This record gives sequence, C-alpha cells and structure tokens, in this order.
Amino acid sequence: MDLAAFARLLAVGWTLIRADALIPREVDPLLPPGVRTLAAFLRLFSGRAARQGRPGERMARVLEGLGPVGIKLGQVLSTRADIFGKTFAQDLSHLKDKLPPFPTPIAKAEIERELGRPVESLFVKFSAPVAAASIAQAHEAWLADGRKVAVKVLRPGVEAKVAADGRALLLASRLMERFIPDARRLEPVAFSRTVIRALQLELDLRFEAAGASEMAEVMARDPYMRAPAVVWDGVGKRVLTLEWAEGVPLSDPATLDLPGLNRQELADNIIRAFLTQALDHGVFHADLHEGNLFVIPPAKLVAVDFGIVGRLGPMERRYLAEILYGFITRDYQRVARIHFDAGYVPAHHDQEAFAQALRAVGEPVLGRAASEVSMGRLLAQLFEITALFDMRLRPELVLLQKTMVTVEGVARRLEPDHDLWTAAEPVVRRWIARELGPVAQARDFAQEALRAVRALARLAEADAAGRVTVVETRDKSGGLVWFAFGAVASAAAAWLFWALA
Ligand SMILES: Nc1ncnc2c1ncn2[C@@H]1O[C@H](COP(=O)(O)OP(=O)(O)O)[C@@H](O)[C@H]1O
Ligand SMILES: [Mg+2]
Repeated sequence: MDLAAFARLLAVGWTLIRADALIPREVDPLLPPGVRTLAAFLRLFSGRAARQGRPGERMARVLEGLGPVGIKLGQVLSTRADIFGKTFAQDLSHLKDKLPPFPTPIAKAEIERELGRPVESLFVKFSAPVAAASIAQAHEAWLADGRKVAVKVLRPGVEAKVAADGRALLLASRLMERFIPDARRLEPVAFSRTVIRALQLELDLRFEAAGASEMAEVMARDPYMRAPAVVWDGVGKRVLTLEWAEGVPLSDPATLDLPGLNRQELADNIIRAFLTQALDHGVFHADLHEGNLFVIPPAKLVAVDFGIVGRLGPMERRYLAEILYGFITRDYQRVARIHFDAGYVPAHHDQEAFAQALRAVGEPVLGRAASEVSMGRLLAQLFEITALFDMRLRPELVLLQKTMVTVEGVARRLEPDHDLWTAAEPVVRRWIARELGPVAQARDFAQEALRAVRALARLAEADAAGRVTVVETRDKSGGLVWFAFGAVASAAAAWLFWALA
C-alpha cells in the first residue's frame, strides 16, 4: 500500500467534496438509493465552492488547483463528451494553466545544472519570465550572435510532483475498478496510464525540441505557417531554447487592429496550415490556440509550443477522406459501409440503421450555407453517433477533431463571417483526389497484392522449415498457387493502370 498516494488521494477527495464535484448533486436522479444517501451525507461537508457553477466548472476549478496532473486529467476528460456529456466536457476544456513565475536566479541555476555551463556562456542577456504555467515558464534571452531567443525552463521539482500525483491517480483508478463494477468498462487504469504517459513526455523538453524541429520542417513545405528554429546548444531535458517568434501574439486584442493586417487571408492561412499538416503530411500542431500563435502583417503566422504533436497514419487519413467525401456527396450508405468494412463498428450492428444515423448528422450540417459548414463540428457529431454504435475511436482522430474546432474558432474570431469551406476547399479537394482517385486506388491495390505475395513467400519459408503441418499445407497449397497467380496478375494490372493514369 502506497501510503503517500493514499494520503494525497484523501486530500484531493476532500477538495472535490468541498466543491461538490465528487458526486455532484446534479447526477442525483441517476444514482441508486444507497449511493444517493452517501452523496447526501458527503454534501454536508461542501463549502462555498460548491455553490458556483455547473459540475464541470466546479471540477475544472479543483483540477486547476491540483497542478499538472489535474490539468492534464481535465484535458483528457474533456475529450470524452461521449461518456460525460457535452456540457461537462466543454466546461473541462477551459482549464487555465497559469501560475505565478518562479524567480529568474532559480531558472538560471536550473539551466546551468542542466546544460553544464554558465548561463553567460550561452546567453549574453537573460531576462525575467514572460509566461509561467504549471510545468514550465518561458524567458526572453539573447545569444552571443545577437539572435533573440525564448528559453523554456521546467519548474523545479515538477517531476516529483507529477510522479506523486500520478501514483495517486493510478491508485484512484485501481480502487474504481475494484469497487465500481460499472466503471470497469471505461478502463480507468488504462486511462490513467495514458494521462501519466502524456505528461512524462511533456516533462522532457528534448522531446518537445524534436517536435518543434519536425514541425518547422513540415511547415516549411507550405506557405501558410512557420515555426521558430530550435537552438540545439540550449536544449536539455529541462531546458528548451527556440528562436524568438517574430510578430505580435494573436492573443493580444490589439493585434486585430494592426495596420496592414489582412484578416481574411490570415483566417484562410490558419485553416489551410492545419489541414495541410494533418492531411498531407500526417503530423500536426495539436495546440493551435491564440496564445501559441504570432502574426506578422499582412497575414504571416508563426506558431510556438510543440508539447503536443498529433499524428495520423495512412489508415486514418484514408478514413477521413472517405467519410468527408461520403458526406459531401451525401452518400450515407457508402460512409456506413466503410465503418463496417474497416471493422470500426462491430458487425452485429445494423448497417442500415447506422446509415440513417449518419444522415441525421450530415443533412442539417450540409443544408446550411457553405460558409457555415464546420468540419470540426461535423466530425464531433459523427463521433457522437459512432459511440452509440460501439465504435472505439482512435485517440488521434479525437485530437484532430478537437484541434479542428480550436482552429475554426480562431479563424471565426479573426473574421466572423469567415467561409471555412472556401478556405479549406483547395486543400481538401487535392487530398481527396489523391486519397480516393484512380491513382490512389491502383496504388492501394498494388500494395495489397504485394503484401499478399510477401505473405505467401513467408508461408513457403515456414513450410520449408517444417513449421507448418503437412495437412495444412496440402489443404491450402492448391488454392495458394491460384491465389499467388491472381495476386501477381493484379499487381501487374495495377502497375499498368498506374503507369497509364
Ligand atoms: N519562440 C518563442 N518566441 C516568442 N515567445 C515565445 C516563444 N516560445 C514561447 N513563447 C511565449 O511563452 C509562452 C509560453 O510558452 P509555451 O511554449 O506556449 O508554453 P506552455 O506549454 O506553458 O503553453 C507562449 O505563449 C509565448 O507567449
Ligand atoms: Mg502555450
């Protein structure tokens, strides 16, 4: 028994009870009588914090106060509207991660310890913090060659705090699995491990440096957004140095009145930047809110903060192309078939009923003016429906959808009548043509055929090594020869098709 974790858990539980966020009064009607009595008893201890706001808001306040683990937990919970309901999830998505900064001399000492050299040997000038959060804070500094840089330094002792709170979270989830049978379906232990894992990566700034450097390369391929270069001399586990992002922060309201600013083009750029990253390159900046964006008039964008990078594999990109195309052409049967064929939706569900549910998502959205079509909202509703059909969503897709909503929000605040669809159209059209056009189909076909041939070759090897039983081989070999022939023939046909297309 981990006593420290248990003590921490009790303390957190007490804070949740004080805010009436452990078993909030709003869920009373859903509870069995025994639990309701327990909840009523606990509520005797609730304080002033319990009177303000919805349950999600009360929970958010408690989690904010807990530091990195609480904040990350809130962020992850906010992606599960399918379990906790939309309002609760939304309330949790506004967690603020702001703390008073720690003193500059301590930051300097951390850097010296981490990089093994005096701060002055790297930075000719090192200023007071410009921003501070629960994990790290950022300073302004200058290199000997005159370049201005941003230096991010982890908060002293943050690793130990995360480790301790992580153990408490894990203990809480183990207790849940043990004593609340209904909760097992949600796999609380696996969930907690995801939260802790995400934080451990964020606590290694070398990892963020790699993300920054990869994203800078990816962004350089298109004209929409840039990232500041990494200064590798100033990178360690607890320190990250990036060139200073030129421009003015988009979070500053005065930015919108900058002379020469082209808001329309800026809004287009952020939408297109995100879509090309995700759809064309399969890796995207997953934290694109105003606080992480800088603007240079007329419409240049620079992004910072690479703590969260999202990735989409070829399968997910293909899936997205298929559903988007299905919705645009209003072919709900097709979208339904894709979900069943890919095994996303378990086969025991009714494909026709699923298609009907998809229509319920698609028609109201597509019936609106093109300017109002939001891909993020469309995806959110699609995911809500798929949850009803037991579809297990890949976390990457949820991250994509969340970021999409954020990005569309930024564009809309820049330009309230911004036509999201017109902005997205060139990128999406090119991507759908590439993913779903004849060339893509021939390519996929050829790849399938190649994979089949390789699998056959492996089978033959296994056979030669005597690892496959005689009966099995004899049973299959006749069919296998024909299958191999077919595979080679289709590969040849696909290649021909591809060469001609
Ligand atoms: N390269 C940079 N150039 C200019 N300002 C930066 C840079 N990197 C970070 N900042 C400033 O520091 C703030 C916090 O850094 P960020 O990387 O976003 O950390 P957090 O993960 O705590 O949000 C940013 O919002 C921005 O104002
Ligand atoms: Mg940030």
